[in-house]
Amino acid sequence: MGKVIECNHPLIQHKLAILRDIQTGAKDFRELVTEISMLMGYEVTSDLPLEEREITTPMGPAKVHMISGKKVGLVPILRAGLGMVDGFLSLIPAAKVGHIGLYRDPATFKPVSYYCKMPEDIQSRQIIVLDPMLATGGSAIDSVSELKKMGVTSIKVVNIIAAPEGIEALTEAHPDVDIYVASIDERLNDHKYILPGLGDAGDRLFGTK
Ligand code: PRP
Ligand code: URA
Repeated sequence: MGKVIECNHPLIQHKLAILRDIQTGAKDFRELVTEISMLMGYEVTSDLPLEEREITTPMGPAKVHMISGKKVGLVPILRAGLGMVDGFLSLIPAAKVGHIGLYRDPATFKPVSYYCKMPEDIQSRQIIVLDPMLATGGSAIDSVSELKKMGVTSIKVVNIIAAPEGIEALTEAHPDVDIYVASIDERLNDHKYILPGLGDAGDRLFGTK
């Protein structure tokens, strides 16, 4: 069964408080999403396997530990997931990045797919799906399903804010996937927006409203 990991570090919670504030403009919003993503990335990568290697320091031979195993792939869900990429890349600069384009139909709230471009070796990578918001869970569920169809077997999902409804739906649809969140909020409103949430993440990142 997949785990739900809440990233409660005080720096994450402090930055998230500012992120939610209606007074926070697009420039600060983008910077905060990057910083929160980097801090969450520390937790998300904490179980990467290590292997022993032997190197030579100026003082002589030394046994050291370096990351081994599967290479990492980052998959932001467009648009808002793009805001989380730089924070993760600053920790894992060699990661390849695939993109999934989905928008939520405003009438049905169901995700509509419009773009997908993945690295060629996607199936052999540890995939980290990035999206600041997990509301109904539809976008994340479809993204994970697409990745599994491509042969991907190791997937984590990272959201800054999640609704309980989204967590329940995603864990039911994909019980093998671990979910990392900075906050599990109260609930969805009638328009399937997260309360208290932060509003529309894509619009706040890119200043489109
Ligand atoms: C938002 C958000 C998620 C999705 C979450 O994207 O970034 O992708 O909604 O909702 P769900 O869990 O109910 O599927 P949106 O559809 O607004 O597209 P955008 O990022 O292009 O603005
Ligand atoms: N998408 C967002 O950007 N915000 C929400 O609260 C729900 C879906």
